[in-house]
Amino acid sequence: IGDVIGLTPALGWNSWNAFGLSVNDAKVRVAAKTIADKLSAHGWAYVNIDDGWEAPQRAATGEIVANEKFPDMKALSDYVHSLGLKFGIYSSPGPRTCGGYLGSYQHEEQDAKTYGDWGIDYLKYDWCSYGEIAPSQPSLDDYKKPYQVMRAALNKVNRDIMFSFCQYGMGDSWNWAGEVGGNSWRTTGDINDSWGSMSGIGFHQQAEAPHARPGHFNDPDMLVVGKVGWGDAQHDTKLTPDEQYTHISLWSLLASPLLIGCDLGHLDRFTLNLLTNDEVIAINQDDLGKEAVQVLKKDGYLVYVKELQDGGKAVGIFNVSDKYQTITINWSELGITGTKVRDVWRQKYLITDNKAFKTSVPSHGVVLVRVSK
Ligand code: GLA
Repeated sequence: IGDVIGLTPALGWNSWNAFGLSVNDAKVRVAAKTIADKLSAHGWAYVNIDDGWEAPQRAATGEIVANEKFPDMKALSDYVHSLGLKFGIYSSPGPRTCGGYLGSYQHEEQDAKTYGDWGIDYLKYDWCSYGEIAPSQPSLDDYKKPYQVMRAALNKVNRDIMFSFCQYGMGDSWNWAGEVGGNSWRTTGDINDSWGSMSGIGFHQQAEAPHARPGHFNDPDMLVVGKVGWGDAQHDTKLTPDEQYTHISLWSLLASPLLIGCDLGHLDRFTLNLLTNDEVIAINQDDLGKEAVQVLKKDGYLVYVKELQDGGKAVGIFNVSDKYQTITINWSELGITGTKVRDVWRQKYLITDNKAFKTSVPSHGVVLVRVSK
């Protein structure tokens, strides 16, 4: 189970970074419509509601119900599906979610059935108050247990539902989350739209990398491009344009789920461009399902290499220094004998010699190339 869906990382949107707990039906519809109109042709498909949709009380029969912000979850699901998209939802194995809403504790089978009835295609399952249920020093089995319980419940539902673990990497979840049936698992705490947060997460995924494989991917958290705000006043991401190229390039190399975190009702042209480069997305979605490895760590720059299905390699050269740099790398240092080098952001072949690759990279920026024989 879990090996037949989600063979490449999920591509979609999640409400959290844009709206936090102020998410509602209308905002989700705007996101869905924008994805259908502007993004779905590039592979974007999931429309995922995060925390904040749950009513304070279950129905008398124990079923979870949505609060007044979501008057008819099934109708919303039908709308999303009518656009050719997929619909995701959020819960916690604990009694309450991180936002203090109702979780699925002791109602797992009932909730899985409700999700099936609603036509849910993706469940993000967030540890949160399960900390009160688990022992204070959880063992590996304690970490696995709530995810096994929900996995079993989802298996009883006659619907393909992607299962996304969110427990911030506790118990080094990358070692076991795939076997427990997670299609993806968060490896870190929450991201925010600063260079420190994004680069601190993105450039520290080395232990996790070998565990990515088709159907099972590391999740270094959602994208912080465009207008974000977590339900507070919205603002343009504080990442500079070069830092945003780094963010999308790195998450693509890491074979991470790409979950857009911005208000799609205010999608500017730069962000749209960032999210619709098919050659970049193809690196993320490569069928081999491998995560990039950090192959070089030099003073001020890092180089990542991701193996691709066609025998080629995607190479990201990241300038993590404060200065513009001209970087020269010998192909042999990367174990590459490529001849054709294509800059995927600029979508053009580069003239290089077959010994070394010389390129200029702005501060906090990246050059992302695809090398083939
Ligand atoms: C946690 C998760 C976030 C988000 C919030 C919702 O912090 O890590 O991604 O789901 O909970 O309350």
